[in-house]
Order: sequence, then structure tokens, then C-alpha cells
Amino acid sequence: MKGPSVAARYDVIVLGAGAAGMMCAIRAGQRGRSVLVLDHAGAPGEKIRISGGGRCNFTNVNAGPKNFLSANPHFAKSALARFTPQDFIALVERHGIAWHEKTLGQLFCDDSAKDIIRMLTDEMRAAGAQLRLRTEIGDIEQTSGSYRIGTSEGVFETSSLVVATGGKSIPKMGATGFAYRIAEQFGLPVVETRPGLVPLTLDPQLLQRLAPLSGIAAPAEIRHGKTAFREALLFTHRGLSGPAILQISSYWREGEDITVVIEPDVDIFALLKKAKQVSGRQSAQTALAEILPKRLAQHLVESEGISGNMADQSDRHLQRLAAAVQSWAVKPSGSEGYRTAEVTLGGIDTACLDSRTMQAKTIPGLFFIGECVDVTGWLGGYNFQWAWASGHVAGEAA
Ligand code: FDA
Repeated sequence: MKGPSVAARYDVIVLGAGAAGMMCAIRAGQRGRSVLVLDHAGAPGEKIRISGGGRCNFTNVNAGPKNFLSANPHFAKSALARFTPQDFIALVERHGIAWHEKTLGQLFCDDSAKDIIRMLTDEMRAAGAQLRLRTEIGDIEQTSGSYRIGTSEGVFETSSLVVATGGKSIPKMGATGFAYRIAEQFGLPVVETRPGLVPLTLDPQLLQRLAPLSGIAAPAEIRHGKTAFREALLFTHRGLSGPAILQISSYWREGEDITVVIEPDVDIFALLKKAKQVSGRQSAQTALAEILPKRLAQHLVESEGISGNMADQSDRHLQRLAAAVQSWAVKPSGSEGYRTAEVTLGGIDTACLDSRTMQAKTIPGLFFIGECVDVTGWLGGYNFQWAWASGHVAGEAA
């Protein structure tokens, strides 16, 4: 690490030019603080760019504390109440960015996620916040009331250091887990981290049996304990994916079962019984294919060993077939891990942070925001809302 003998001084230094870091820099700059944002990447907001299939699901109008996982479910309340989805929508509209609601309160850009990045960098510029990219961050030292940050571009000093370097997901995009190391350096506890919003894998034998289903999607409810999500299920060549699986993956732990209910709004048993009455000469496979994708219907009928016409089927047979569709208990062998996980669960223990400011309770001037904190949202724009809200409240205080 190189650097001048005299460190450049800023009121606020933000590590990480992602969603949370840029939001924090904007608010601190608007308050008249001198702000520097440092990032090792070549461009700001890389995860914003790839989010929501390139259209960025930038918030969810229904976002509330119930949509987040944390060892302390109350922690997120303060920030979420002080910077709401409506506040972010107002910002998006001020910048003339067209958006639409897709489903379940999820808001997306009409054109491109790049509009959101441009909006944030324009706001940072207007607030006087400086951005330095391609900057490797080295040692951080705390000296009386100040932090000295050694970087590949020199030494910087600040009284408010905001850590916004995200989690461990998608290491190929520069995710490093750096925030956890800083927490460790300052003796702050970290709740065990694990991949969240991630496809689940199946053991090789089951995978082989399900191989013909790869690529099939169906409406489903996926249950784990008292938690259930109703969205699409997707069979893949590695296991199970689709929004319903990503959602439940954040609650699932290795060794546990999940229950898959395909077409949860349909009473499959009743439907099969009716088919038996009105079209007894139909095969079970054809009857089921009226509701399910053909390949899925074929697989289920074959794996339940059911043959013959509907008229030949006893109620017990039909019940077994209905159960195969609507109460399939499956034990995933694992997850695809950080390689494809959208988020990192766990992180900086909220017990050591002030929920109003995101400042470490015992270390004045040190803040943690965004994904590195032990607050993780559901799929559907909640994680960005947490990044905006936690960034905003830290920017008010730093
Ligand atoms: P984020 O990861 O955005 O930013 C961290 C920054 O710190 C990066 O710029 C990184 O380069 C930098 N950094 C890391 N380590 C560093 C180091 N050692 N030195 C210097 N800089 C360092 N959420 C949502 O609400 N809606 C959506 O549509 C999506 N879609 C989506 C798709 C995909 C593929 C992924 C992987 C994730 C999503 N998400 C999402 C989740 C969302 O992207 C995520 O929750 C936020 O980006 C978190 O914002 P942060 O600012 O905390 O971290």
C-alpha cells in the first residue's frame, strides 16, 4: 500500500460503492459532510447492474420488518420506518425513471438497472461526495477519534468510517467478506454467515430420477416448518430452483426436509375423482396432464407405479397420486452456495449496532450498513430496500 505522509482527510469515508454505500454517501453529502467513497471494483453498483434480470427490482411496496431474517427481528424496524419504499420511489420519479409493478409489490425499472446506478452517481455528485474506484483497501487503524485507512491510492483519514462492502455472495463479482474481517478486528461479533436466496441441490440418485423434468416450471407452495412461500418452482439439472425455492432456502438448514405442494390452489384429489367419473377411459397421465406440465404428469404417474385408465383407479391410488403432487417431502442435499446465492444470511451482529444510526455501540464513528449486517430480506426488492434504508440512516448520523 502506498501513500503520502499526510493523509487526505474527510468527514465520512464509505467503504463500498454498492447500493448501501452510495445511499449513505448521498445523505451525508447533502448534510454538508465531506465524503469519500472507496471501492476496489472498476464501476459502482455492479450488483445493481445485474439485479432483477438487468431491470433492478429496486424496492417492494410492501416492505416491512416481517420480510427480513435476523437474529433480532425488531432491529430493522427503525431504519425501514425512516426511509420507506415511497421515499425511494419519490427519488426514482424525480430522476424521470420509468418503472412498473411486476407482481407481489415488486417494482422494476421499465428500461434498465443502469438508470438506478446513474441516478445514484448523479445524486452523489450533486451532494459533493467523491468516488474512487479501483482502490484496494489495506489496514485500518483507529487513533484517537480517527480512522486511518491505508489503500493502494494513499492514506485517508476520517472520523466516521462506514463499512458497506456487502456479503460473500457471487465472489466472481468482487464479494470478499471484508466487512466481517473489519468487525473481527474491532472485536464485534458476527452471526454465522451462509448463502441465502439460493437454488437447492439434490443427491445424485434423486437427481437422476428427476433429470427428465429439468426446465419444467409449475406454481407451487414450498413449506419449511411454519414458513411457506407460494411462487414458481423450477426443476433444474442441479436440483430445485425458482422464486419459491430461493425464498425457502433462506429458512432451510442442511439435513432438513422441505415440502413441495404443486398447484396449491387446486384440489388434485377432487379433480382426479371427477376425471374418473366423467372420463373413465382417460389414462391417469392424461388426466393429470390437464393440470400439470405433460412431462411432470408422466413422471409422477410412472414413479407412483400407476397404470391403466382412470376408471380402474381406486380412491387409494388417486390419493397416492394426489399426495405425490401436493405433499412431496424432499431433503435437499445442499445449496449451490455463494457462487449463485443472491444474498448472504447472517453478518455483523445487530446487538452491537444502534438501530437508529447503524453505528457500533462501543466504537464511536464506526458504522456497518447493507448486506454485511445480519438483516436479510426475502426475494422481491426487499434487500435493496434494506440497503437504501440502512444507508440513509447512517448518512444522517455519520
Ligand atoms: P453490494 O454488494 O451491492 O456492494 C458492496 C460494494 O463493496 C461493491 O461495490 C464491492 O465492489 C465493494 N467491495 C467489496 N469488498 C471490497 C473490498 N475488500 N474493498 C473495496 N471494495 C469492496 N436485491 C433486490 O432487492 N432486488 C433485486 O432485484 C436483486 N437482484 C439480485 C440479483 C443478483 C444476481 C444478486 C447477486 C443479488 C441481487 N439482489 C437483489 C441483492 C442485492 O444486490 C444486495 O442485497 C445489495 O446489492 C446489497 O447492497 P450492499 O451495498 O450492501 O452491497
